[in-house]
Amino acid sequence: MKTKLFLSIAASLVIFACGKKEDESTAKVNKAAPAAAKQKIIGMSQCNLGEPWRVQMNEDIRLAAAKRPELKIIFKDAQNDSLKQVAQIEEFISAGVDAIIVSPKEAAPLTPVIKTAFEKGIPVIVLDRRVNGDKYTCFIGADNKKIGKAAGEWIVKKLGGKGNIIELKGLMTSTPGQDRHSGFRAGIKGSDLEIIFEADMKWLEPQARKEMESALARFKDINLVYAHNDPGAHGAYLAAKAAGREKEMLFVGIDGLPQEGRMYVKQGVLAASFEYPTGGKEAVDTVVDIFGGKKPEKEITLKSHVFTKENIDKGGEWL
Ligand code: FRU
Repeated sequence: MKTKLFLSIAASLVIFACGKKEDESTAKVNKAAPAAAKQKIIGMSQCNLGEPWRVQMNEDIRLAAAKRPELKIIFKDAQNDSLKQVAQIEEFISAGVDAIIVSPKEAAPLTPVIKTAFEKGIPVIVLDRRVNGDKYTCFIGADNKKIGKAAGEWIVKKLGGKGNIIELKGLMTSTPGQDRHSGFRAGIKGSDLEIIFEADMKWLEPQARKEMESALARFKDINLVYAHNDPGAHGAYLAAKAAGREKEMLFVGIDGLPQEGRMYVKQGVLAASFEYPTGGKEAVDTVVDIFGGKKPEKEITLKSHVFTKENIDKGGEWL
């Protein structure tokens, strides 16, 4: 009796085990087939990977896409060369990608190729820097005019309405440079702040350092450096430090990455950093919505924090 019972349990276990095995493998095949058929290719053209902020943007895209096995992202780095970036988008078009995410180096040179992709019916998400006109699917970025204005107003308050300012501008053929400049000028309007020196440092820390060396050589009395990004503000700080003058003035930047601007604020290197979110996650979410048949907003505006010594430990303050 006992042996019979044992045998029948053993037999049913074998049957169960086989059945389970078969179920699993069938499930695998069934899962694999539609997933492979459904996989969508997204071409991502990054204007350069020289700054931590852009490395972070790619990482944000990668992390958001990792949660969605139906997406495959092809990353390309244009190495700060607009012509190379145009060629990358042309390649994406001829490869027949399902969508394009692009963070353009400059507005004018990238406008025609993005228009071509868009008019061929490829969804195009323009991230962070704008192109001219409206021939793209969706633009995602924070409000650079608002950030520039808030920086201007914060500086007016901080300096009691007067002082000598150096403005180190981002690449002025890119829209964040133009907007951070015009916003800032609006923010300081009516005050007695004087811009004694301004230069285009093209978003680059070494270039900012060089420009700051010239400014230091020319001006004895500098109260504050407003740089359009944190690498620029840090480059200016390094130049002032090398001249033994970093304590004479304040440094303000934009980006507010935890490992960069926020860290500089904590260390007392920057007086303030204004957040410029990368939009990487929002770009992937928007592409997913488009694949799901939703029409995205033409413009998605991301919010920013300001980080200062007073608020950094509380996570900054919304603008
Ligand atoms: C990086 C960067 C950022 C800046 C953004 C503007 O290349 O310069 O520091 O916020 O681009 O597009």
